[in-house]
Amino acid sequence: MNITLRVWRQPNAAAEGRMVTYRVEDVSEHMSFLEMLDVLNERLTLEGDDPIAFDHDCREGICGMCGVVINGIAHGPQQTTTCQLHMRSFADGAVIDVEPWRAEPFPVIKDLVVDRSAFDRIIQAGGFISVPTGSAPDAHATPVPKRDADHAFDAATCIGCGACVAACPNGSATLFTAAKITHLGLLPQGQPERDSRVLGMVAQHEEEGFGSCTNIGECTAVCPKGIPLETISRMNRDLLGALSRNQA
Ligand code: SF4
Ligand code: FES
Repeated sequence: MNITLRVWRQPNAAAEGRMVTYRVEDVSEHMSFLEMLDVLNERLTLEGDDPIAFDHDCREGICGMCGVVINGIAHGPQQTTTCQLHMRSFADGAVIDVEPWRAEPFPVIKDLVVDRSAFDRIIQAGGFISVPTGSAPDAHATPVPKRDADHAFDAATCIGCGACVAACPNGSATLFTAAKITHLGLLPQGQPERDSRVLGMVAQHEEEGFGSCTNIGECTAVCPKGIPLETISRMNRDLLGALSRNQA
């Protein structure tokens, strides 16, 4: 395949960015999108140019590092992570725009790399449980209803990629926050901090400057882990309960 890439280049957080066009030839349809960028970067390096900065780590859809906007869609045309997107998803001769996540709480560090530490601070505000020290409890010592275990596991598959924020017209991180609240709040181990968790994490979400959820649903449409909108309903129910119990 031969393709044309138009890539956002921005030398640093303070500099202005712009789209730069690159022709990439002999691309295998079996390459992942990141491997195609690797090939381009190798060429840029050999030519003495600055390679395109992009985030990645596991390259198998589990770390959540590799998000970019491809042709206006977070993670591109398949509902998967950018590292799991293959070039066979594009036509020979395609012109492909590649941009970083666009959201105020995710400032660009360089090229396609954004600072997602706002997510870390939301987790720090309540995404944990207190675990007493001592010997490990016996397996099955704490029964969990199958339904709760399944919903908690589904919510726990959120990899913190940030695609939901990039896709949301409000720049909201509600799907991410709701997934992190839900996966702990449904389990017995998550009950002691249930109220403080939802109050703290929702307050931090606002503090970071993310927008509010207005049920548009773009987030779940691009989420590589298929986190459903009902996760947000669970969070809202938790939040209302916590607010009513903690008003005094
Ligand atoms: S909810 Fe989905 S899109 Fe949002 S951070 Fe988690 S995995 Fe990524
Ligand atoms: S590099 Fe880890 S999810 Fe893509």
